[in-house]
Amino acid sequence: MSAITISQDGGEIAVKIADGGDGCLRCHAQWLRDNALDEGTRSSQNGQKVIALLDQPEQPRIEQAELSGQELVVVIDGSDYRFPLTWLVAHRYDQVAADQAQGWLALERSPWQRDLLSAHGSDITVGYDELLTNDRCLLGWLSSFRRYGIGIVQGFAADDSEAIVKVAERFGYIRSTNYGKVFDVKTELNPTNLAFTGLGLEVHTDNPYRDPVPTIQLLACMANSAEGGDSIVADGFAAAKLLQENDPEGFQLLSEYPVDFCYAGSEDVDLRCQKPIIELAPDGELIGVRFNNRSSAPITRVPFAKMPQFYRALRQFATLLNSEKLQASFKLAAGELFMVDNRRVLHGRAEVLGAGNRWLRGCYADVDALESRQRVLTRQFADNS
Ligand code: OGA
Ligand code: ZN
Repeated sequence: MSAITISQDGGEIAVKIADGGDGCLRCHAQWLRDNALDEGTRSSQNGQKVIALLDQPEQPRIEQAELSGQELVVVIDGSDYRFPLTWLVAHRYDQVAADQAQGWLALERSPWQRDLLSAHGSDITVGYDELLTNDRCLLGWLSSFRRYGIGIVQGFAADDSEAIVKVAERFGYIRSTNYGKVFDVKTELNPTNLAFTGLGLEVHTDNPYRDPVPTIQLLACMANSAEGGDSIVADGFAAAKLLQENDPEGFQLLSEYPVDFCYAGSEDVDLRCQKPIIELAPDGELIGVRFNNRSSAPITRVPFAKMPQFYRALRQFATLLNSEKLQASFKLAAGELFMVDNRRVLHGRAEVLGAGNRWLRGCYADVDALESRQRVLTRQFADNS
């Protein structure tokens, strides 16, 4: 085969490249025209596209193509367009499986179980001062957050009630809600004040009654002199994959039908939403779990005949999430915080025992800014190396 093959109708091109799997990279004329890198297609100032889809021909035709150094030069409907081969490889789509398995996990996500801390503790944990001052350290921490969906920060001053804000603003923005910009979870085991309970909290994702759900939650410990109250976390993706192995039909039911969540705990709010317990992208990628018994509302969208199986699947998922095999726990000390991907990692706490104070501060943020920050830092370090 020669280096370049153009299909007879000019609709497709195949280019021989060194690292092309089967030695070949393929794309369509339509895709090349739409993604052309010239000034007439994309602004060189901000990279935004300046032509609409309907400005392009419905069936563009590749008339000619040649390699010029490390670039592919194609003539489409009489105009030349140049594509660096590295760009084509970075954006290739000819290796996407036509039918992905339901529940596939992106490569950058690594499921974990109860040995989270012994296996990955040093990846996910960072010192507060280093995190705030060292961009490489920040990048490492953000990258492992994407991989494991959890991060731990240690070593801020126990009386620094703004530390949680500084951590969130180091990579993104706090999302204010009806609970405020930052909220307190206080447990004071003092018989004169029963307002705050010390009950354990089953592992859950926060605020499933919101759409969009907060995608990151931070919980910072300001005081923890009480006995018990250990934090518990569980990887919802690991649980979903186990459910899929043990009970594929149950997995399917939890991803196919939405359940109802609500929070109307104070006069001024009535938050509701209907979302699946296990969320898949349209191409089957596992992208989220929602699980929160306290915020569950009556399920209204599961067909009558399927409700018994649906409850069975729900119980199985709950059993996995609450199993010793999946739960990792640790006790936060004052001056430590943890942060979870709230679409993936569930958190809870063991019962608080004995006398003493327990005070956590919480806030929400979102992963879009975090991932943007991670990409920008990656680019900066690549440019400077
Ligand atoms: C919560 C919560 C955790 C804790 O209030 O939603 O998860 O350790 N609290 O108190
Ligand atoms: Zn919570």
